[in-house]
Amino acid sequence: MQGASLDPEKLPVHVAIIMDGNGRWAKKRLMNRVQGHEKGSQAVRSIVTAARELGIGMLTLYAFSTENWARPKLEVSALMKLLKRFLASERDELTAKGVRLNILGQKEKLPADIQEEADKTMEMTRGNQGMVLNLALSYGSRQEITWGVQTLARKIKAGDIQPHEITEEMISDHLYTRQMPDPDMIIRTSGEFRLSNFMMWQAAYSEFFVADTLWPDFTRDDFIEILRNYQKRDRRFGKVKCSTSNDGSPQ
Ligand code: IPE
Ligand code: IPE
Ligand code: MG
Repeated sequence: MQGASLDPEKLPVHVAIIMDGNGRWAKKRLMNRVQGHEKGSQAVRSIVTAARELGIGMLTLYAFSTENWARPKLEVSALMKLLKRFLASERDELTAKGVRLNILGQKEKLPADIQEEADKTMEMTRGNQGMVLNLALSYGSRQEITWGVQTLARKIKAGDIQPHEITEEMISDHLYTRQMPDPDMIIRTSGEFRLSNFMMWQAAYSEFFVADTLWPDFTRDDFIEILRNYQKRDRRFGKVKCSTSNDGSPQ
């Protein structure tokens, strides 16, 4: 099977992808942006399948940011339509593959019909143990942190906790990603070197990969190649290698 060259012991638990480049993909072909998003949703399908087959535990796809609401109305509504189609059409496929769906973001800001479809798919896939698929929708890291801070502030006001009792774990537990591992790696397609308001707290020690490929062209093989590179990275988390002597002098 493709991907056999990967070390199963060193697979990332949580992979996050900033799926960028649909508009540029369409522009290159003299198509409209919506056609780029349509093609992009096919890439979503193939990467979800690949991640599941490769044994990734959690896949987070950044599909729509809080800032993306400011795009032209027509583009936003086309994206919502695609999203609705995806949520409905993939329901059985996700179930068959053992994938559990989760939404990260301001779910309440999504149109009611999308919320309904999302709830239905989440409910249907709730017991699946194979992989967690997080769709980041109307997601923004700053909004997420703001919401978490507000929740903590309310708990302090109510006397449930003291300010000095706030820990890093507690902050993590007041984000959309509560109880989830931080992403081991973040992939961004289409050559842009920025987070664009994605998981700023959670990305503290994520390995970052930028692929020049535009999202609609991103394939399973591109994914495997990046995973191979991930396995070559030395994740130090600020520490020194065990081979260095205890007094810190180089050996
Ligand atoms: C990513 O592609 C999809 C979304 C942000 C919804 P873009 O639409 O940002 O494509 P580019 O960056 O304009 O090429
Ligand atoms: C980031 O892409 C958001 C998603 C992929 C959903 P954008 O295209 O919105 O980001 P910028 O504008 O290039 O920073
Ligand atoms: Mg973009």
